[in-house]
Amino acid sequence: MLEPTLLVHGGAGSIPLESQAAHQQGCAAAAQAGGEILLAGGNAVEAVCAAVEVLEDNPIFNAGRGCALTLDGGVSLDSAVMCGYTLQAAGIGGIGPFKNPVRIAQKLMPKKEVLLVGPQAEVWALRHGFEPVPKEDLVTEKVLAVWRDVVENGGTGNFAGGTVGAVCRDAAGHMAAATSTGGTMGKTPGRIGDSPLIGAGTFADEKCAVSATGEGESFIRSVFAGQLACAIRDGVGPKEALQALLIRVRDVYHGVGGAILLTVDGPPIPLCTTETMSWATWTPTEVRSGI
Ligand code: GLY
Repeated sequence: MLEPTLLVHGGAGSIPLESQAAHQQGCAAAAQAGGEILLAGGNAVEAVCAAVEVLEDNPIFNAGRGCALTLDGGVSLDSAVMCGYTLQAAGIGGIGPFKNPVRIAQKLMPKKEVLLVGPQAEVWALRHGFEPVPKEDLVTEKVLAVWRDVVENGGTGNFAGGTVGAVCRDAAGHMAAATSTGGTMGKTPGRIGDSPLIGAGTFADEKCAVSATGEGESFIRSVFAGQLACAIRDGVGPKEALQALLIRVRDVYHGVGGAILLTVDGPPIPLCTTETMSWATWTPTEVRSGI
């Protein structure tokens, strides 16, 4: 069996040169946090959630603190977790200012329901011990400036980039994936992206785990993560399968982005069709990052 491995991403997009080191450092810190869970005997689900929690808490990423805002300036967060061993999965969509949406998805995962959205998802979260935080705790000055540019000047925002995610193979060879995002900057209130949708932005089974980032609508319409898992199951090489699907999402579904992929018997693979995508890997012997 191969060694335990964890791979995280900090979103596909165009990260300015001066911010690239911080994005890589943020990813490395998250990978380290997930790796520490594995070293302490934790499983793949616990590791991906710990890694994503660190990314949600880092304001340079578009998830949790630092999240993008809706057209009317609201917070609407999406997240999902999937366990490739039990095949349990959960997504939370369109919730207000909760500090760590990935933990709400993790809590939902053992339940029958797979997807909760909007105010009723918030009620469920409250009932299960999660407290919302003041919106101001999540909204940074930088985010407000980008939001104003998008809403008032028609700027592009470049803000699906910054979605975060993690995939893991633990010591037992079990796989897991988690993703979290504030979505696209200036999105229509009520919009749900690919991240909380199992088989679109997030998926894991006994062969692979995948977390996507980028223009969510294109990843939803192409059933991205599910198609990738099917290709791997059919024997297509993981890197070739990921590359081909990202190109298909770009050329056929007209959306750019990226994804991280880990298989049960191969190395971690980060790929994107954007200029940049920050990532980091953890193994028991090293943490590596790139962009
Ligand atoms: N890929 C994140 C989103 O579109 O919401």
